[in-house]
Formats: sequence, C-alpha cells, structure tokens
Amino acid sequence: MKALILSGGKGTRLRPLTYTGAKQLVPVANKPILWYGIESIVDAGITDIGIVISPETGEEIQEITGNGDHFGAKITYILQEHPLGLAHAVKVAQPFLGDSPFIMYLGDNLIQDSLKPFFSKFKEEHLDGLILLRQVSNPSAFGVAKIDKKGRVLKLVEKPKDPPSNLALVGVYFFSPAIHQAIGSIVPSDRGELEITDAIQELINTEKNVESLQLNGWWLDTGKKDDLLEANRIILDTDLEISKGGNIDEKSQVIGRVNIGEGSKIINSTVRGPVIIGQDCHIENCFIGPYTSVGDQVTLIDADIEHSVLLEGSQILEIHQRIVDSLIGRRAKLEMAHQRPKALQFMIGDDSQIELV
Ligand code: DAU
Repeated sequence: MKALILSGGKGTRLRPLTYTGAKQLVPVANKPILWYGIESIVDAGITDIGIVISPETGEEIQEITGNGDHFGAKITYILQEHPLGLAHAVKVAQPFLGDSPFIMYLGDNLIQDSLKPFFSKFKEEHLDGLILLRQVSNPSAFGVAKIDKKGRVLKLVEKPKDPPSNLALVGVYFFSPAIHQAIGSIVPSDRGELEITDAIQELINTEKNVESLQLNGWWLDTGKKDDLLEANRIILDTDLEISKGGNIDEKSQVIGRVNIGEGSKIINSTVRGPVIIGQDCHIENCFIGPYTSVGDQVTLIDADIEHSVLLEGSQILEIHQRIVDSLIGRRAKLEMAHQRPKALQFMIGDDSQIELV
C-alpha cells in the first residue's frame, strides 16, 4: 500500500497568503496543514508516500517537509507541471504508484478520524474504491455522492448546482490500481480539469466495487480564512500540549493550556489558553486570548488579540483595539503611531482584506 498526497494546485482561495507560499504549508496550531495528513497516513502504517507538487510551490514544500525521516516515512516528490485536476495528478504519479493500491489524500484537508478503520475495510473487502463522506450544509462547494442504504455509491457529481444529497466527498480516497484505467477513459470537465469524481463514476459504471463510509469526527477543507481559523480552534482545543518554554516575567499571567516555544519572551502580558506561541517571539504589554496561534519570531507590543493566526515574523505594535478572527501573513506589520490617529496609512498586498469592524 502506498499513499499519494496532492499538494500542487493554485490555492486561489487563501490569497494573498498563497501568492508567496503553498496553501498546504499554511500553519494550523503552528504546524503545516500538510504535516497532519502525513502523520495520519504514517499512523495507519503506510510509509511509502508520494507528494504531488507544482513548479511554483514545490521547492518550498520539499525544503520544509524533507525526505520523510522526520515522520518515519519515505517521501518521493512528483512534479505536476500544470494543475489539470486531481485525476491528472494521479496520472502523473502513475510511475510512482505502479500497480500498488493507494490512499489519495488532498494536502489541504484535515480530518479528525484515524484512517485505520477505513484502511481495514478497503483491504478486507477488496474494494476498488472507498470514499469518505460527510454531511454538509453547502454541498454545491464539493463533490457530492448519492448512495444506497448499504453505503454503495450510486452516483457522484463534482460541485453540482443542484446537489443530489448533502453528502460531500471528503478529500481522502482509497483506490485499487483499477483507477488508472478509469482515469484513462475520462475527459476534462467543463472547468478544464480531469476530475477524480468522474474517474470514480467510471469505476461505478464498469461495475467495480466502490463503497463509502461516513466520517464521525470533524473534517476541514482549509481553503478559506474562516475554515482555517476553525481548524486552528479545533486543533488547539483537542491537541495542544502544555509547555512553558521561553521566559515569562513575574508581571505576566499564563492561564490554561498554553504552549510557549524556546527563546520567546513574555513581558507584562496575559496569555489565556488555548494558545500556542512559537520560538523567539517578543510579547510585551499584551493580552493574547483563546484560540490564537503565534508563529516564530513574532513581535507583539501593546496588542490585544484572540481567535487569530499570526504567521512567522509578523508584528503588531500599539494597537489597543482588540484584534479578532484574523489571519496575519508572514512578516506583515500593523502599527498605530498615535493614540488617536488622524489618518490610516496602508501598504497592502493584492487580494488582502481589512475590516474595521
Ligand atoms: O476538499 C474536498 C474536495 O476536494 C472534494 O469534495 C471535491 O470532490 C474535490 O474535487 C476537491 O475539490 P477542491 O476544489 O477543494 O480541490 P482543490 O482544487 O482545492 O485541490 C485539492 C488539493 O489537490 C489541493 O491540495 C491542491 C491539489 N491539487 C489540485 C489540482 C486541481 C493538485 O495537486 N493538482 C491539481 O491539478
């Protein structure tokens, strides 16, 4: 059994962050989204992992993720020159996959459930395809499945205007090598992509054995800011280890589940968990409220922030209004020069959003 993680694509929905970096590397609780997928695959006992990358962000992904030693796995990188669809990515990865069955995992998805029971069903029942489903309130944003009472898949459609059910396809799939032939028989969709949904439909049409299971735990497709903040909230709530490295002065209060990295200074501040703070941060005269992740080398002085994600090297200086529900990019700087500013001055990247609420 092998694993194929799809980590190419364009990542338009998390712009502007994804102009300069891969969406799969955006951190949730200070860990790249992609790493959660790798860890979950290794936990299911699969260590031969291929990662599909794009020319734009592939190098960064390789540099940060490495050859797999860190995860107890062997990682092979597979370059997909253009983002021509999920089934196209499988086609490009065929030399790596050979005739092995495999799990396909979308690198921007996060699921709570262990993969083990799904993998067992796939193996024991000799399936050609096993898909995971979750009820959602906005099925038109996903691939959607219609199933019979036993969970056998009758029909699949990609992002339908008129969805046949509210069961969305989660970005985790198990396939036998029969999928390659199915991919060979499909044509690009209206949006110009070779859709994995169409390839699975082809498996069904040729009477292969395709089944579904519904997820019990949460699932996040971290394509948008609010999804990312929600993923951050859930991971901090469920997975955060308490650790108080760094230097906390006696005027500071650190309350609840908080993880502070080495070399960080907390001066005259209150940190109310769950909160994670990376390494070498400077935090002075601040309130850091629940569900906040602060990346490495962040500077916060006279700031009040909660339910937010701050990436590496960002700075917030002397902003006394509470900052909430925010995603602040690498090295971004927010500063209030006067107590009562007469004007607002900005230098903001393309597709940025500023809401003064
Ligand atoms: O998240 C679940 C949904 O993922 C499913 O419900 C849909 O059926 C499925 O098509 C997919 O839809 P998305 O529109 O969310 O896919 P996205 O373009 O975001 O790509 C998912 C991952 O695959 C992402 O990490 C980028 C990568 N990718 C994407 C394309 C199109 C590639 O590596 N190569 C590609 O050509």
